[in-house]
Amino acid sequence: MSSPVPPLPTAELHVHIEGTLEPELAFSLAARNGTRLRYAHLDALRRAYSFTDLQSFLDLYYELTAVLQRPEDFADLAEAYFTRAAAQGVRHAEVFVDPQAHTGRGVPLEVVMEGLGEAFRRAEARHGLSARLIACFLRDRDPAEAEDLLPRLLPYRDLVIGVGLDSAEVGFPPELFERVFARAADEGLHRVAHAGEEGPPAYVWSALDRLGVERVDHGNRSLEDPSLVARLREEQVPLTVCPLSNLALRSIDRLDAHPLRRMLDAGLAATVNSDDPAYFGGYLHDNVAAVTRALGLTDGHRRRLAENSFRASFLPEADKERHLAALAAARS
Ligand code: ADE
Ligand code: ZN
Repeated sequence: MSSPVPPLPTAELHVHIEGTLEPELAFSLAARNGTRLRYAHLDALRRAYSFTDLQSFLDLYYELTAVLQRPEDFADLAEAYFTRAAAQGVRHAEVFVDPQAHTGRGVPLEVVMEGLGEAFRRAEARHGLSARLIACFLRDRDPAEAEDLLPRLLPYRDLVIGVGLDSAEVGFPPELFERVFARAADEGLHRVAHAGEEGPPAYVWSALDRLGVERVDHGNRSLEDPSLVARLREEQVPLTVCPLSNLALRSIDRLDAHPLRRMLDAGLAATVNSDDPAYFGGYLHDNVAAVTRALGLTDGHRRRLAENSFRASFLPEADKERHLAALAAARS
Protein backbone atom coordinates (compact mmCIF):
# COMPACT_ATOMS: atom_id res chain seq x y z
CA MET A 1 0.00 0.00 0.00
CA SER A 2 1.52 3.39 -0.92
CA SER A 3 1.72 6.06 1.78
CA PRO A 4 0.92 9.67 0.87
CA VAL A 5 2.33 10.96 4.18
CA PRO A 6 5.68 10.09 5.78
CA PRO A 7 5.52 7.94 8.90
CA LEU A 8 5.98 9.64 12.26
CA PRO A 9 7.95 7.98 15.08
CA THR A 10 5.37 5.86 16.88
CA ALA A 11 4.94 3.09 19.43
CA GLU A 12 3.05 0.02 18.32
CA LEU A 13 0.95 -1.31 21.21
CA HIS A 14 -1.33 -3.85 19.55
CA VAL A 15 0.29 -6.38 17.26
CA HIS A 16 0.16 -10.18 17.61
CA ILE A 17 3.47 -11.75 16.64
CA GLU A 18 1.59 -14.72 15.15
CA GLY A 19 -0.42 -12.22 13.08
CA THR A 20 2.75 -10.99 11.37
CA LEU A 21 3.19 -14.34 9.57
CA GLU A 22 3.21 -13.41 5.90
CA PRO A 23 2.10 -16.19 3.52
CA GLU A 24 5.59 -16.35 1.97
CA LEU A 25 7.20 -16.93 5.36
CA ALA A 26 4.52 -19.50 6.28
CA PHE A 27 5.40 -21.43 3.13
CA SER A 28 9.15 -21.23 3.64
CA LEU A 29 8.92 -22.29 7.31
CA ALA A 30 6.62 -25.17 6.31
CA ALA A 31 9.25 -26.31 3.79
CA ARG A 32 12.08 -25.93 6.33
CA ASN A 33 10.21 -27.95 8.97
CA GLY A 34 8.46 -30.45 6.72
CA THR A 35 5.05 -29.19 7.93
CA ARG A 36 2.15 -30.14 5.65
CA LEU A 37 -0.14 -27.22 4.83
CA ARG A 38 -3.49 -27.81 3.15
CA TYR A 39 -2.68 -25.15 0.53
CA ALA A 40 -1.10 -26.52 -2.63
CA HIS A 41 0.72 -23.29 -3.44
CA LEU A 42 1.33 -19.76 -2.25
CA ASP A 43 -1.54 -18.21 -4.21
CA ALA A 44 -4.02 -20.64 -2.67
CA LEU A 45 -2.85 -19.60 0.79
CA ARG A 46 -2.95 -15.91 -0.17
CA ARG A 47 -6.57 -16.34 -1.25
CA ALA A 48 -7.42 -17.77 2.19
CA TYR A 49 -6.50 -14.43 3.79
CA SER A 50 -10.10 -13.21 3.40
CA PHE A 51 -12.53 -13.20 6.32
CA THR A 52 -16.15 -12.70 7.37
CA ASP A 53 -15.66 -12.11 11.11
CA LEU A 54 -13.18 -12.62 13.96
CA GLN A 55 -13.66 -16.40 14.19
CA SER A 56 -13.11 -16.96 10.46
CA PHE A 57 -9.75 -15.20 10.84
CA LEU A 58 -8.80 -16.99 14.06
CA ASP A 59 -9.34 -20.38 12.38
CA LEU A 60 -6.59 -19.63 9.84
CA TYR A 61 -4.39 -17.79 12.36
CA TYR A 62 -4.27 -20.84 14.66
CA GLU A 63 -3.94 -23.29 11.77
CA LEU A 64 -0.82 -21.58 10.45
CA THR A 65 0.94 -21.59 13.82
CA ALA A 66 1.75 -25.21 12.83
CA VAL A 67 4.73 -23.90 10.83
CA LEU A 68 6.31 -22.41 13.99
CA GLN A 69 8.27 -25.28 15.51
CA ARG A 70 11.77 -24.25 16.55
CA PRO A 71 13.35 -21.23 18.23
CA GLU A 72 14.71 -19.98 14.91
CA ASP A 73 11.18 -19.95 13.43
CA PHE A 74 10.03 -17.57 16.17
CA ALA A 75 13.19 -15.51 15.76
CA ASP A 76 12.71 -15.24 11.98
CA LEU A 77 9.06 -14.27 12.47
CA ALA A 78 9.93 -11.46 14.88
CA GLU A 79 12.86 -10.32 12.74
CA ALA A 80 10.58 -9.98 9.70
CA TYR A 81 8.08 -7.95 11.76
CA PHE A 82 10.77 -5.62 13.13
CA THR A 83 12.12 -4.98 9.62
CA ARG A 84 8.69 -3.94 8.34
CA ALA A 85 7.66 -2.05 11.47
CA ALA A 86 10.87 0.00 11.61
CA ALA A 87 10.36 1.07 7.99
CA GLN A 88 6.91 2.34 9.03
CA GLY A 89 8.12 4.55 11.88
CA VAL A 90 7.81 2.12 14.80
CA ARG A 91 10.41 2.97 17.49
CA HIS A 92 8.99 0.88 20.31
CA ALA A 93 6.74 -2.20 20.16
CA GLU A 94 4.78 -3.98 22.89
CA VAL A 95 4.05 -7.21 21.08
CA PHE A 96 1.42 -9.82 21.94
CA VAL A 97 2.20 -13.53 21.95
CA ASP A 98 -0.30 -16.36 22.49
CA PRO A 99 1.71 -18.98 24.45
CA GLN A 100 -1.23 -21.42 24.61
CA ALA A 101 -1.43 -21.47 20.80
CA HIS A 102 2.00 -23.10 20.90
CA THR A 103 2.07 -25.14 24.11
CA GLY A 104 -1.36 -26.55 23.16
CA ARG A 105 0.18 -28.18 20.06
CA GLY A 106 3.26 -29.47 21.84
CA VAL A 107 5.74 -26.62 21.33
CA PRO A 108 7.29 -25.84 24.73
CA LEU A 109 7.08 -22.32 26.14
CA GLU A 110 10.90 -22.34 26.34
CA VAL A 111 11.15 -22.70 22.54
CA VAL A 112 8.83 -19.73 21.97
CA MET A 113 10.68 -17.54 24.48
CA GLU A 114 14.15 -18.53 23.32
CA GLY A 115 13.38 -17.62 19.71
CA LEU A 116 11.48 -14.42 20.40
CA GLY A 117 13.98 -13.39 23.08
CA GLU A 118 16.87 -13.61 20.65
CA ALA A 119 15.17 -11.35 18.09
CA PHE A 120 13.76 -8.95 20.69
CA ARG A 121 17.11 -8.44 22.41
CA ARG A 122 18.86 -7.45 19.17
CA ALA A 123 15.99 -5.30 17.81
CA GLU A 124 17.43 -2.05 19.16
CA ALA A 125 20.83 -2.60 17.53
CA ARG A 126 19.46 -3.94 14.23
CA HIS A 127 16.30 -1.90 13.77
CA GLY A 128 16.48 1.04 16.17
CA LEU A 129 13.41 -0.11 18.02
CA SER A 130 12.88 -1.38 21.54
CA ALA A 131 10.54 -4.33 21.98
CA ARG A 132 8.86 -6.19 24.82
CA LEU A 133 6.26 -8.96 25.02
CA ILE A 134 2.75 -9.07 26.45
CA ALA A 135 1.61 -12.67 26.93
CA CYS A 136 -2.09 -13.09 26.15
CA PHE A 137 -4.40 -15.64 27.69
CA LEU A 138 -6.85 -17.26 25.25
CA ARG A 139 -10.28 -16.28 26.59
CA ASP A 140 -12.06 -19.14 24.78
CA ARG A 141 -10.04 -21.67 26.81
CA ASP A 142 -10.44 -22.67 30.46
CA PRO A 143 -9.24 -19.87 32.79
CA ALA A 144 -7.43 -22.63 34.76
CA GLU A 145 -5.01 -22.93 31.80
CA ALA A 146 -4.21 -19.22 32.15
CA GLU A 147 -3.63 -19.70 35.88
CA ASP A 148 -1.17 -22.52 35.14
CA LEU A 149 0.60 -20.42 32.52
CA LEU A 150 1.15 -17.28 34.61
CA PRO A 151 3.89 -18.62 36.95
CA ARG A 152 5.68 -20.15 33.96
CA LEU A 153 5.99 -16.68 32.42
CA LEU A 154 7.70 -15.18 35.45
CA PRO A 155 11.25 -16.41 34.61
CA TYR A 156 11.02 -14.27 31.43
CA ARG A 157 10.34 -11.00 33.23
CA ASP A 158 13.03 -9.09 31.30
CA LEU A 159 11.06 -9.81 28.12
CA VAL A 160 7.44 -10.19 29.28
CA ILE A 161 6.17 -6.94 30.78
CA GLY A 162 2.49 -7.74 30.96
CA VAL A 163 -0.48 -9.97 30.31
CA GLY A 164 -3.40 -9.59 27.91
CA LEU A 165 -6.60 -11.34 26.89
CA ASP A 166 -7.48 -12.27 23.31
CA SER A 167 -9.11 -14.78 20.93
CA ALA A 168 -12.90 -15.23 20.39
CA GLU A 169 -14.58 -12.50 22.43
CA VAL A 170 -18.37 -12.92 22.47
CA GLY A 171 -19.45 -15.36 25.19
CA PHE A 172 -16.13 -15.07 27.02
CA PRO A 173 -16.41 -11.96 29.23
CA PRO A 174 -13.33 -10.55 30.97
CA GLU A 175 -14.49 -11.38 34.51
CA LEU A 176 -13.80 -15.08 33.83
CA PHE A 177 -10.12 -14.12 34.14
CA GLU A 178 -10.37 -11.97 37.26
CA ARG A 179 -8.25 -14.26 39.43
CA VAL A 180 -5.33 -14.64 37.03
CA PHE A 181 -5.27 -10.90 36.33
CA ALA A 182 -5.22 -10.19 40.08
CA ARG A 183 -2.23 -12.52 40.41
CA ALA A 184 -0.51 -10.83 37.49
CA ALA A 185 -1.04 -7.46 39.21
CA ASP A 186 0.48 -8.87 42.42
CA GLU A 187 3.53 -9.83 40.36
CA GLY A 188 3.84 -6.26 39.09
CA LEU A 189 2.89 -7.16 35.51
CA HIS A 190 1.01 -4.72 33.30
CA ARG A 191 -2.53 -5.66 32.26
CA VAL A 192 -4.41 -5.10 29.01
CA ALA A 193 -7.37 -6.88 27.38
CA HIS A 194 -9.18 -7.02 24.07
CA ALA A 195 -12.68 -5.69 24.70
CA GLY A 196 -15.39 -4.11 22.58
CA GLU A 197 -14.01 -5.52 19.31
CA GLU A 198 -17.09 -7.69 18.71
CA GLY A 199 -18.24 -7.79 22.35
CA PRO A 200 -20.57 -5.24 23.99
CA PRO A 201 -19.65 -2.18 26.10
CA ALA A 202 -20.28 -4.32 29.23
CA TYR A 203 -17.06 -6.21 28.39
CA VAL A 204 -15.11 -2.93 28.40
CA TRP A 205 -16.55 -2.03 31.81
CA SER A 206 -15.61 -5.48 33.07
CA ALA A 207 -12.05 -5.25 31.69
CA LEU A 208 -11.63 -1.94 33.54
CA ASP A 209 -13.36 -2.80 36.81
CA ARG A 210 -12.73 -6.53 37.24
CA LEU A 211 -9.35 -6.96 35.49
CA GLY A 212 -7.89 -3.52 36.24
CA VAL A 213 -6.58 -3.08 32.70
CA GLU A 214 -4.36 -0.11 31.92
CA ARG A 215 -5.29 -0.08 28.21
CA VAL A 216 -8.22 -1.43 26.24
CA ASP A 217 -7.39 -3.26 23.00
CA HIS A 218 -9.83 -2.12 20.29
CA GLY A 219 -12.65 -0.72 22.49
CA ASN A 220 -14.66 0.32 19.42
CA ARG A 221 -18.06 -0.60 20.83
CA SER A 222 -17.44 1.68 23.85
CA LEU A 223 -18.95 4.46 21.74
CA GLU A 224 -22.38 2.82 22.16
CA ASP A 225 -22.35 3.77 25.87
CA PRO A 226 -22.05 7.51 26.69
CA SER A 227 -21.23 6.87 30.35
CA LEU A 228 -18.38 4.55 29.30
CA VAL A 229 -17.08 7.20 26.90
CA ALA A 230 -17.10 9.69 29.80
CA ARG A 231 -15.13 7.25 31.97
CA LEU A 232 -12.56 6.55 29.23
CA ARG A 233 -12.14 10.28 28.61
CA GLU A 234 -11.87 11.27 32.29
CA GLU A 235 -9.29 8.57 33.04
CA GLN A 236 -7.62 8.91 29.64
CA VAL A 237 -7.65 5.12 29.26
CA PRO A 238 -5.71 4.36 26.08
CA LEU A 239 -7.52 2.49 23.29
CA THR A 240 -5.35 0.51 20.88
CA VAL A 241 -7.41 0.84 17.71
CA CYS A 242 -6.78 -1.28 14.60
CA PRO A 243 -8.61 0.16 11.56
CA LEU A 244 -7.60 -2.28 8.80
CA SER A 245 -8.37 -5.18 11.17
CA ASN A 246 -11.87 -3.82 11.82
CA LEU A 247 -12.44 -3.54 8.07
CA ALA A 248 -11.06 -7.02 7.28
CA LEU A 249 -13.14 -8.63 10.06
CA ARG A 250 -16.22 -6.69 8.95
CA SER A 251 -17.05 -4.80 12.11
CA ILE A 252 -17.34 -1.90 9.66
CA ASP A 253 -18.32 -2.08 5.96
CA ARG A 254 -16.13 0.79 4.81
CA LEU A 255 -13.17 2.58 6.33
CA ASP A 256 -14.96 5.93 6.16
CA ALA A 257 -17.37 4.50 8.77
CA HIS A 258 -14.51 3.82 11.18
CA PRO A 259 -15.02 5.31 14.70
CA LEU A 260 -11.40 6.55 15.12
CA ARG A 261 -12.17 10.17 14.33
CA ARG A 262 -15.19 10.14 16.63
CA MET A 263 -12.95 8.73 19.37
CA LEU A 264 -10.44 11.55 18.90
CA ASP A 265 -13.21 14.16 18.74
CA ALA A 266 -14.59 12.78 22.02
CA GLY A 267 -11.20 13.37 23.65
CA LEU A 268 -10.30 9.67 23.98
CA ALA A 269 -6.66 8.52 24.11
CA ALA A 270 -6.83 6.53 20.87
CA THR A 271 -3.78 5.03 19.16
CA VAL A 272 -3.48 3.33 15.75
CA ASN A 273 -2.02 -0.18 15.48
CA SER A 274 -1.82 -3.05 13.01
CA ASP A 275 -3.19 -6.05 15.04
CA ASP A 276 -2.41 -8.87 12.56
CA PRO A 277 -0.75 -6.99 9.72
CA ALA A 278 0.06 -9.98 7.50
CA TYR A 279 -3.62 -10.89 7.44
CA PHE A 280 -5.29 -7.49 7.26
CA GLY A 281 -3.38 -5.72 4.50
CA GLY A 282 -1.02 -3.38 6.28
CA TYR A 283 1.51 -2.51 8.94
CA LEU A 284 1.24 0.44 11.30
CA HIS A 285 1.74 3.32 8.91
CA ASP A 286 -0.41 1.63 6.26
CA ASN A 287 -3.21 1.86 8.85
CA VAL A 288 -2.46 5.53 9.56
CA ALA A 289 -2.34 6.36 5.85
CA ALA A 290 -5.60 4.50 5.16
CA VAL A 291 -7.56 6.29 7.91
CA THR A 292 -5.98 9.61 6.94
CA ARG A 293 -7.52 9.20 3.48
CA ALA A 294 -10.84 7.71 4.61
CA LEU A 295 -11.51 10.04 7.55
CA GLY A 296 -9.71 13.17 6.37
CA LEU A 297 -7.29 13.22 9.31
CA THR A 298 -5.00 16.23 9.59
CA ASP A 299 -1.31 16.46 10.50
CA GLY A 300 -2.53 17.45 13.95
CA HIS A 301 -4.55 14.23 14.28
CA ARG A 302 -1.57 12.13 13.21
CA ARG A 303 0.71 13.83 15.71
CA ARG A 304 -1.83 13.27 18.45
CA LEU A 305 -2.04 9.58 17.57
CA ALA A 306 1.75 9.24 17.71
CA GLU A 307 1.97 11.19 21.00
CA ASN A 308 -0.80 9.06 22.47
CA SER A 309 1.12 5.92 21.50
CA PHE A 310 4.23 6.85 23.49
CA ARG A 311 2.21 8.14 26.46
CA ALA A 312 0.15 4.92 26.48
CA SER A 313 3.22 2.68 26.30
CA PHE A 314 4.71 0.94 29.33
CA LEU A 315 8.09 2.60 28.76
CA PRO A 316 9.82 4.37 31.67
CA GLU A 317 8.96 8.11 31.81
CA ALA A 318 12.44 9.19 30.64
CA ASP A 319 12.13 7.04 27.50
CA LYS A 320 8.66 8.42 26.81
CA GLU A 321 10.04 11.97 27.01
CA ARG A 322 12.92 11.10 24.69
CA HIS A 323 10.53 9.65 22.09
CA LEU A 324 8.12 12.61 22.42
CA ALA A 325 11.02 15.02 21.82
CA ALA A 326 12.06 13.07 18.69
CA LEU A 327 8.45 13.14 17.53
CA ALA A 328 8.25 16.93 18.04
CA ALA A 329 11.40 17.30 15.92
CA ALA A 330 10.16 15.00 13.12
CA ARG A 331 8.72 16.58 9.98
CA SER A 332 5.11 15.81 9.03
N1 ADE B 1 -5.85 -12.78 18.21
C1 ADE B 1 -5.18 -12.28 17.16
N2 ADE B 1 -5.83 -11.23 16.65
C2 ADE B 1 -6.93 -11.04 17.41
C3 ADE B 1 -7.99 -10.10 17.40
N3 ADE B 1 -8.07 -9.12 16.50
N4 ADE B 1 -8.96 -10.24 18.32
C4 ADE B 1 -8.91 -11.21 19.22
N5 ADE B 1 -7.94 -12.11 19.28
C5 ADE B 1 -6.95 -12.02 18.38
ZN1 ZN C 1 -5.67 -7.97 18.60
